[in-house]
Amino acid sequence: MTQQTSGDTASAAPGGDVRLTRISKSYGSFTAVHPLDLTIPAGSFFALLGASGCGKTTTLRMIAGLEEPTTGTVSLAGQDVTALPPYKRPVNTVFQSYALFPHLDIYENVAFGLRRRGIKSVKKQVHEMLELVQLGDFARRKPQQLSGGQQQRVAVARALINHPQVLLLDEPLGALDLKLRRQMQLELKRIQTEVGITFVHVTHDQEEAMTMADTVAVMNGGRVEQLGAPADLYENPRTTFVANFLGTSNLITAEVAEKSGEDLVVRAGGGRLALPAQRCTDARPGDRVLLGIRPEKITLSHADDAGAIPDGRNRLTGRITESSFIGVSTQYLVDSPAAAGLSVYEQNIERDPRLVPGAEVVLHWNPAHSFGLDADQSPLAGTEVAEEAG
Ligand SMILES: Nc1ncnc2c1ncn2[C@@H]1O[C@H](COP(=O)(O)OP(=O)(O)OP(=O)(O)O)[C@@H](O)[C@H]1O
Ligand SMILES: [Mg+2]
Repeated sequence: MTQQTSGDTASAAPGGDVRLTRISKSYGSFTAVHPLDLTIPAGSFFALLGASGCGKTTTLRMIAGLEEPTTGTVSLAGQDVTALPPYKRPVNTVFQSYALFPHLDIYENVAFGLRRRGIKSVKKQVHEMLELVQLGDFARRKPQQLSGGQQQRVAVARALINHPQVLLLDEPLGALDLKLRRQMQLELKRIQTEVGITFVHVTHDQEEAMTMADTVAVMNGGRVEQLGAPADLYENPRTTFVANFLGTSNLITAEVAEKSGEDLVVRAGGGRLALPAQRCTDARPGDRVLLGIRPEKITLSHADDAGAIPDGRNRLTGRITESSFIGVSTQYLVDSPAAAGLSVYEQNIERDPRLVPGAEVVLHWNPAHSFGLDADQSPLAGTEVAEEAG
């Protein structure tokens, strides 16, 4: 392998594959991370997403070498690093509390990793890094003279100057307000694209994971429940936890009536609904399934207009119980004989003034947008209700 010595940040640090093999972590009788196999391709932006306590930080710390795995191995760019201490791994971590040195200015904070390795001429590299994170004009300020987002970028620059093959980020945006968070998400994504190294990003915020990552692993109770591209996870959740944790899903308990061509026809609340058979794992007539449909895929019509709904759409009758106007859309809750509290999001284009609480409505959608899940799981997994119940 050729050693790259150029100071050019765009080419100096080729991303490394991260490979976890049967890695696990137990504290006494409690298992924080169950044996996990995971390959994070070189150069990808990978997110570990899950609720508090699901094992995200523990997994990240095992990659960094800050936590010793109970079983399994970690390899980086093809090299087994399980026995290596953190500072010998080609990895740097950005923590939620940026941990900048308060007495050093921004320039010296960024230069720190180079100076520690005895490198004397740091100017070119520090300036490149400050340009990369767009803080060129702030070199002589102290950390407390920067905003939260700017401090966050200093922390990223300070880690990247060491040319790690992998950058680990543990809730790096947790301390920022929502607007700045959004801005920094795009900023981090830009930096990752520019330097091309592997980013492993830990977050409990599903929107953040979907905005930034090429691949998201959804963790639940120390296990990866599903892994995929954001759109694929969102459109094709395989468990109720993923369906509820990533956005909102309506999950309607139904009984399979028959297979009709490519479709599965199910009964719910006295009506019949269809879904693509390939979006439902081997269900047979008589089986119970959960039919899933996202709130934004549903159209709401006033009951008086039911006759105008085109044939071939799934439809359920119901009554609006709540409506909230949130700017881009109006969100409704609808009770139907098939299920209570169905969520419907309608874009605010032409609002029907009759759609108010108490109104009788018909919910309808393209059957192809429905998915089917195993009814043995809790339909509440991954919702706030389930989280509060512990
Ligand atoms: N040193 C420890 N001793 C005992 N249990 C621990 C220890 N460190 C972590 N745990 C437990 O392991 C589980 C996973 O912790 P971890 O920090 O990985 O969660 P997390 O997904 O990062 O959560 P959060 O989003 O709250 O940061 C938790 O239940 C936690 O209480
Ligand atoms: Mg954590």
